Amino acid sequence: MIIAPSILSSDFANLEAEIKRLEENGADWVHVDVMDGHFVPNLTIGAPVVKAIKPITSIPLDVHLMIDNPAKYVKDFALAGSDIITFHYEATKEKTFEVINIIKSYGIKVGLSIKPNTSVNEIKPYLDLVDLILVMTVEPGFGGQKFMKDCADKIIEIRAYTDKDLIIEVDGGINAETAQYCKKLGANALVAGNYVFSSDNMKEAIASLR
Ligand code: DX5
Ligand code: ZN
Repeated sequence: MIIAPSILSSDFANLEAEIKRLEENGADWVHVDVMDGHFVPNLTIGAPVVKAIKPITSIPLDVHLMIDNPAKYVKDFALAGSDIITFHYEATKEKTFEVINIIKSYGIKVGLSIKPNTSVNEIKPYLDLVDLILVMTVEPGFGGQKFMKDCADKIIEIRAYTDKDLIIEVDGGINAETAQYCKKLGANALVAGNYVFSSDNMKEAIASLR
């Protein structure tokens, strides 16, 4: 199980120390939540922040674009040092093939994400083209929301549809209990913000998600 803590819940005034702390406590990836205030009702991190953190960590940067028109910004995020770029199907629809190809052209991993109201059916044409599917189990926009169980059930449908060695990552409301639920359904990567950063013992919190 790949554990990707989201720095959205970290102390932004001490970002370097927070990322080092993640590394020391067993995180596999650093999840970076990028929001544009249009696709989701919140504004967060941009490519300059990805560029700033790249040299201070050796673990992969898992960049989650919750933005409109991702095609326009992929280059900035790729050159800033993203190891995985995931974008939303709802933001691209018929342009999805194009965005997958742009991300691939940088030689990095490509992920496709779906919001709670989007069915797996809509993304079936892309499952064999991407490295990762990010299943949202909250409405994207904010950390600390409650896990929506029905959304996690999409994991089964995705696994059943493809034989590919796909990374299925789940994002939103992950804690020790919901992590086990997702694992049982076939998830092999988990994002966790609030649970990891609000715990008194980060090492134990991360270990409890595996
Ligand atoms: C939500 C973000 C998530 C979020 C997860 O829009 O994509 O990555 O930060 O936070 P928790 O784990 O607190 O739900
Ligand atoms: Zn995220």
